[in-house]
Amino acid sequence: MKRISILLVFTLLCQFSYAQKKIWDETEQEKTERLAWWTEDRFGMFIHWGLYALPARHEWVKNYEKLNNEDYQKYFDHFNPDLYDPSEWAKQAKAAGMKYVVLTAKHHEGFCLFDSKYTDYKSTNTPYGKDLIREYVDALRKEGLKVGFYYSLIDWHHPDFTVDRVHPQRTDSDKWLGQLNKGRDMNKYREYLHNQVRELLTNYGKIDILWLDYSYPGKNGKGKDDWGSVELLKMVRQLQPGILVNNRADLMDYAGGWDFVTPEQFKVPAWPKIDGKKIPWETCQTFSGSWGYYRDENTWKSNRQLLVLLIESVSKGGNLLLNVGPTARGEFDYRAKERLADMGEWMHANGRSIYGCTEAPAGIEVPENCLLTYNPKTNRLYIHLLEYPLQNFLLKGMRDKIEYAQFLHDGSEVQIKKPHGYAFDFEMSENDVNLALPVIKPHVEIPVIEVFLK
Ligand code: GLC
Repeated sequence: MKRISILLVFTLLCQFSYAQKKIWDETEQEKTERLAWWTEDRFGMFIHWGLYALPARHEWVKNYEKLNNEDYQKYFDHFNPDLYDPSEWAKQAKAAGMKYVVLTAKHHEGFCLFDSKYTDYKSTNTPYGKDLIREYVDALRKEGLKVGFYYSLIDWHHPDFTVDRVHPQRTDSDKWLGQLNKGRDMNKYREYLHNQVRELLTNYGKIDILWLDYSYPGKNGKGKDDWGSVELLKMVRQLQPGILVNNRADLMDYAGGWDFVTPEQFKVPAWPKIDGKKIPWETCQTFSGSWGYYRDENTWKSNRQLLVLLIESVSKGGNLLLNVGPTARGEFDYRAKERLADMGEWMHANGRSIYGCTEAPAGIEVPENCLLTYNPKTNRLYIHLLEYPLQNFLLKGMRDKIEYAQFLHDGSEVQIKKPHGYAFDFEMSENDVNLALPVIKPHVEIPVIEVFLK
């Protein structure tokens, strides 16, 4: 009897804690459907823009140089992006093959690009004088792009945001930290944060993505309780039931607390999993070593590197969110423009190997120096040739699986043919098949063979 009642209490407790760990009710199928457009689109643009475009030396400049609000004020006073034309941004994103855009409505510096009721620290009070978010939203919609907002949970300007280990005014002394935080009230900041997210999700129509950034729980850090994440996410889901939210509000163990994970600035070795199950993911990456405009930063990735990043992400079932940091005048820097244009050229001819694609079915062997993607709807396999082979291109175990093959960029047949050369020089089994490639590499950065599977 005693054992039974212990079991009962335990079961009830489990149910109780499970019930608490739920932000909203949704079946797995419903979640898949909600994410369907995003899984299809695969490629988006991140935009980091704020006052930090003026110092032009990293969006963390306030933190790195331990600047206080007074030091930083000159950037607010001189913020006047007279060349800001979001329809130009939208056109460039679209031409690059991107399908959605996520812009920093507020970054860690606390400056708001939108006309918030709850602060004076906003674009409408700068010499520029307008709501930048409004123009951005309108421009994206006009180009048929999905609309995303990044909102920083962190705020290095707000007087109630307590100084912590990543704050510009941080200190190693707990005593001093206590002093610094006298009079700061996180409850008030939390309310401010909720109010602003409500504004963003109420005043601009349908919003497709919300990118909350970021949590760092632990000593002198901040996490879900500081942000009031559970309540926040409940509100978000209620205001915009279709919205997609990233995973940085410290709610990984809450159903509905996140929609996709966000590996940043590195390549995942394989499709990320939780409890053995593959989960939706999107990697966010910069062109160079900073998210905000950084004039003197020169570590820009090449077109080829960026394409590999995109293709490899899709080959592991993920998305790529590639960042641009516009200048203080409101334009994309020439290096960003060049790279977007180059990617666009490739995407124009090869986008079919990206949109709607995912990891290749298990059992298909990846040829050397190749990345595979696969479109389950059309049953086509895409072979990305990172190193161009010389005439013979062997696909192991594929003889019975191939119906037809062509180059994707021009639709020209790639013949299924006996290998060129003396047969005894090849190790080819009955199940293998050889594709005959032209000697000269096609005029494409990374050529793709589109294989129609049986
Ligand atoms: C980090 C940085 C931030 C950037 C973000 C993008 O969290 O703090 O500057 O916005 O990554 O993912």
